[in-house]
Amino acid sequence: MTDLFAPLTFASGHTMKNRFMLAPLTNQQSHADGLFSQAEHDWLLMRAKGGFGAVMTAAAYVQPCGKGFEGQLGFDEDRFETALASLASDIKAQDCLAIAQLYHAGLRAVPGREIVGPSDDADTGGRAMTTDEVEEMIEAFITSAQRAQRAGFDGVEMHGAHSYILCQFLSDELNRRDDRFGGSLENRASPIREVISGIRARCGSDFNLGLRLSPERMQIRTGEMVELVAQLMAEGNLDYIDMSLWDCFKQAEEDEFKGKTLTELFAGLERGNTKLGVAGQIRSGPSAQRALDEGADFVLIGRAAIPEHDFPERVRRDPAHEMPPPPFSREHLQSEGVSPPFLTYLDVFAFVEKEEA
Ligand SMILES: Cc1cc2nc3c(=O)[nH]c(=O)nc-3n(C[C@H](O)[C@H](O)[C@H](O)COP(=O)(O)O)c2cc1C
Repeated sequence: MTDLFAPLTFASGHTMKNRFMLAPLTNQQSHADGLFSQAEHDWLLMRAKGGFGAVMTAAAYVQPCGKGFEGQLGFDEDRFETALASLASDIKAQDCLAIAQLYHAGLRAVPGREIVGPSDDADTGGRAMTTDEVEEMIEAFITSAQRAQRAGFDGVEMHGAHSYILCQFLSDELNRRDDRFGGSLENRASPIREVISGIRARCGSDFNLGLRLSPERMQIRTGEMVELVAQLMAEGNLDYIDMSLWDCFKQAEEDEFKGKTLTELFAGLERGNTKLGVAGQIRSGPSAQRALDEGADFVLIGRAAIPEHDFPERVRRDPAHEMPPPPFSREHLQSEGVSPPFLTYLDVFAFVEKEEA
């Protein structure tokens, strides 16, 4: 049985002091131009002080056309580096790894500018990117990773889940291209592989590199994701794969994979030195422990870290600790570093108590 508080060393050489990573949480607290704000700095630093072994930023767009939310963090300009450098050094001063999540919304970009994706898309009005534009998008992920490295981050995670651009390319429904980025699973995964090799070439093997993937729905096929994860683990160029499962203990929907939880499905693959993180419905010490018992190397904590910035510390003190059920009062959330724009966003997740009329 792996201890939740045993350290974990990645192939890059970075050690996470325990098995708790803060999941990427879009919080809409950045400035309108993508500049990192003091509110977002304080929100993330509180989680580092609360005992997380690694803290990840919210999804940060790598090109302006990849912006998916108002108030989203931008990684697309060098001038953002100073604010990000102070975040990275403050997180690392807490004996916590600092990771940035790199993202492009593709067809799910905020309306108001031209929307692009792997192929034309009637639902969003998006148009197919040219081959040159796909190459520019890949380059933008790589230069953003270099920016993160210069700012002092320990690593980056590529957002390849939730039907954002890298996930859209993986989908044989959304990606109907006939160039080298479409067709076989290998071709559809080539943007991901080219980002990985570009980051490795420019940032080195001692820069921590992770990838987030979705296992099902999102117009992708579970069988293909199992195949891709197995291949990427065998290739050994990633420090970790973060499976965004939404419920770690749910069974896969496709018949072929019934009988195992989603965690067990991916933990059962030969993983060499690539670590496996899982995210989804981990709200207590026992559920975090269960994810490790089912074979994950670490857990990513999303919603439980919102009302409790010190969720890992609470579990350390009481292994049976469980996050109290939502909703939470505005005052409580504000005391946990949630500023007004984030409060508005959390309303969508039924996280905020209704105010008296
Ligand atoms: C408010 C909110 C914002 C999120 N933002 C992101 C994000 O920026 N990037 C991402 O990959 N996932 C995002 N997610 C998904 C979480 O990282 C996590 O995988 C999901 O919430 C399931 O874990 P949980 O049950 O511990 O919350 C978000 C989820 C929530 C609730």
